[in-house]
Amino acid sequence: MCGIVGYVGSPQKTSGTHGAQDVVLEGLRRLEYRGYDSAGIALVAQDAVHMRKKSGKLSNLIAEIEDAPLPASLTGIGHTRWATHGGPTDVNAHPHLADNGHLALIHNGIIENFSELKAALVKEGVHFTSQTDTEVAAALLGSIYRGAGAGDLTRSMQLTAQRLEGAFTLLAVHRDHPGVVVAARRNSPLVLGLGDGENFLGSDVSGFIDFTRRAVELGQDQIVTITPEAHSITDFNGNPAEGKEFHVDWDAASAEKGGYPSFMEKEINDQPAAVADTLLGRVDAFSRLTLDEMRIDPEALKKVTKIVVLACGTSAYAGSVAKYAIENWCRIPVEVELSHEFRYRDPIVDANTLVVSISQSGETMDTLMAVRYAKEQGALTLSICNTNGSTIPRESDAVLYTHAGPEIAVASTKAFLAQITATYLLGLYLGQLRGNLFTGQIKDILADLGKIPSKIQSILDRAEEIKELARSMSDASSVLFLGRHVGYPVAMEGALKLKEIAYIHAEGFAAGELKHGPIALIDEGQPVFVVVPSPRGRDSLHSKVVSNIQEVRARGAKTLVIAEAGDQAVAEFAEFVFYVPETPTLLMPLLSTVPLQLFACELATVKGLDVDQPRNLAKSVTVE
Ligand code: F6R
Repeated sequence: MCGIVGYVGSPQKTSGTHGAQDVVLEGLRRLEYRGYDSAGIALVAQDAVHMRKKSGKLSNLIAEIEDAPLPASLTGIGHTRWATHGGPTDVNAHPHLADNGHLALIHNGIIENFSELKAALVKEGVHFTSQTDTEVAAALLGSIYRGAGAGDLTRSMQLTAQRLEGAFTLLAVHRDHPGVVVAARRNSPLVLGLGDGENFLGSDVSGFIDFTRRAVELGQDQIVTITPEAHSITDFNGNPAEGKEFHVDWDAASAEKGGYPSFMEKEINDQPAAVADTLLGRVDAFSRLTLDEMRIDPEALKKVTKIVVLACGTSAYAGSVAKYAIENWCRIPVEVELSHEFRYRDPIVDANTLVVSISQSGETMDTLMAVRYAKEQGALTLSICNTNGSTIPRESDAVLYTHAGPEIAVASTKAFLAQITATYLLGLYLGQLRGNLFTGQIKDILADLGKIPSKIQSILDRAEEIKELARSMSDASSVLFLGRHVGYPVAMEGALKLKEIAYIHAEGFAAGELKHGPIALIDEGQPVFVVVPSPRGRDSLHSKVVSNIQEVRARGAKTLVIAEAGDQAVAEFAEFVFYVPETPTLLMPLLSTVPLQLFACELATVKGLDVDQPRNLAKSVTVE
């Protein structure tokens, strides 16, 4: 995720700004919601690049600058980090220097081929000090600048971008080019801000909203160079390109939310990127799936006889989805248990048990304690986490990070989809390691996963359909959710979202359980969401759920159905149907969850509730 700011000004600027340091720090303050595990700044002044960087919040960087002031400057870049490669330490914070400290570079995204590039640069004699992919990009730019780029910063950036794979926004300054910031963009956000005698770059408009309202949207695979008086845009080959100018009419607070009324709605809309980023860089040059940190002997993983997933709340529902996929692909039994329940019984785990913890924050006390307990019993521990350097991954034997970026709204949305994605990757990793899946099968599943972000986007493009339903139900006092198979955890998650932000009584059930009790709750007008499996999947599963719809409808329920596009069978029994794109059954939760999130968010919004900070809840539950 990360927030990025670039600035070039001149003494003649008209905005009344006070030099690069103030502009960059103000931009970082506005962008801190994008990442807050470290921050840094680099200024060009007095024939040198001056850098300060610090782990922790932006306030730590500001204190550092107060202790060691920077010279006045009109050229600067700044970064607020959400760690992906390398923990949140001072050394891993951006900027990263190259070309003997004359060049500084900041980065947002993930460079997939960084290990190959690093190996080549090490051979050239480059010495690396951090664990980041960013330092590799900085070193590559420095090397190209001295070589084929012939001291031309823009050309060097073009040549560098051509060598990088993955997602990146890069911003660089060089001692020899005061008054110039050069940026590259692929699959990661970057906006240009136009001033008078000064120009700006930001991950989004909030990076410069205090100084100008004139912005330019940049396209994919573009390079932009700014000076105080001008800007130029090219593609990676140096061919001229154009951006689209627009006027920013949001206030600063809504700019941080990307113009959405709440962080939650923004984060729901961030999900195509959260899933895509979590998938990035997982297959190495030998077609092997990789984890982020691995301190387990692969031979021990091959001997694992049982997986226990530990998590709480929404993260536990991601674990429930994982059970279906991992058991299906790897034929290992998977138990999913709430962390706080696990600890206080006498669970049977040993050296042949892989305990997989799932936690967005990496700090949930219940899960941390359960992981510690499992370790004491000799289990192997693997953490799926969204927060690099947090306690649970630090204490685990292996780590798979989700790349959802910081989640600000208390109710989890994008982290949930990223967690599900990560558990699929774990399933594929284990399936490959243990020989349960053929290369072709893995490729097919990865290809299906690769299509998910655009399918989520197509659902978001039709958000109005489900929002309209939510608005019509603002006086609902109870809503039930039914699902089978992977639709069951989706139903549970749909109910949890509604409870926690709209304060409406909601229950999720396994549809097959209906007749064993819950059906007594159904009376005239009771809204019931039903998550219907694909009719292309196991036939009996689909028809069983269609029967469940009929059962509740016969008792007066208002049936609201989430079904796969092309499912003709459901329409006649439903008051409302939202179709999601076709996808293999096991991957369906990545799509069918989205309309339920939109429903809860809109219902809470029309009720005038604080969507981002629901009552009685905290984002990170660090007490038992
Ligand atoms: C619900 C929600 C919570 C968290 C739970 C675990 O929207 O966010 O249920 O999922 O508190 O938190 P993490 O994943 O940080 O361990």
